[in-house]
Amino acid sequence: MSQSNTWTKVDEYIGEKLIEHDPVLEQVLVANRQADLPAIDVSPSQGKLLSLLAQMAGAKRILEIGTLGGYSTIWMARTLPADGKIVTLELDPHHAQAARANFALAGLEEKVDLRLGNALEQLAQLDQEGTEPFDLIFIDADKPNNPAYLRWALHFSHPGTVIIGDNVIREGEIINKHSTDPRIHGVRAFYDLLADEPRINATAMQTVGSKGYDGFVLGLVTG
Ligand code: SAH
Ligand code: DHB
Ligand code: MG
Repeated sequence: MSQSNTWTKVDEYIGEKLIEHDPVLEQVLVANRQADLPAIDVSPSQGKLLSLLAQMAGAKRILEIGTLGGYSTIWMARTLPADGKIVTLELDPHHAQAARANFALAGLEEKVDLRLGNALEQLAQLDQEGTEPFDLIFIDADKPNNPAYLRWALHFSHPGTVIIGDNVIREGEIINKHSTDPRIHGVRAFYDLLADEPRINATAMQTVGSKGYDGFVLGLVTG
């Protein structure tokens, strides 16, 4: 077996053993492909990780930057208590439309506040509204804006807020300071900010699986 084939097969094994069969989540992935959304939703094992982190954090308010078709949103939204909310930000109206249909399918319309528009503008808007801090923040949108998203995440945090960033390894390209890819520079600047920020205690986990070789940043706001 080629290495990446093994990673995918192991992800399938983890799925069979540890991830409950879920017709809604499976249908969401089918719908996202039928709607021609890029296949960059988190994997099932990553979705479950997000849901476990939300439960460990006791999250009642979650912020997600980058909705796509709402697959990761649904994993997290389902962990919320009756009075919990997830605010999720999406630029592309076609993605948002697919996500809204998926939230309806999952019966989660009450818990999800999907805001269409550029995330930077939507974050400023949330601030103007005087939004309460969030307990968990998942950053998974356009990578060049990762440093700005991290600043906003900190602004919307309280001590104990969990901050997660997707796609922070990119096949190891992250260590190439001469990369010509602006996404790599966005993620490298994200690491620089984390390194310089005493109020966030963070690490990064390299992952392999059905989405190749990539990883998550996991941070805890301490101050
Ligand atoms: N979290 C999703 C995947 C998100 S993919 C999941 O796991 O299911 C990244 C998403 O970010 C895409 O839908 C893309 O349209 C959106 N995006 C890109 N730039 C953006 C921006 N400036 N503001 C808001 N969303 C943006
Ligand atoms: C890409 C973006 C993602 O958020 C992801 O998880 C995988 C790939 C991309 O833009 O290529
Ligand atoms: Mg991602």
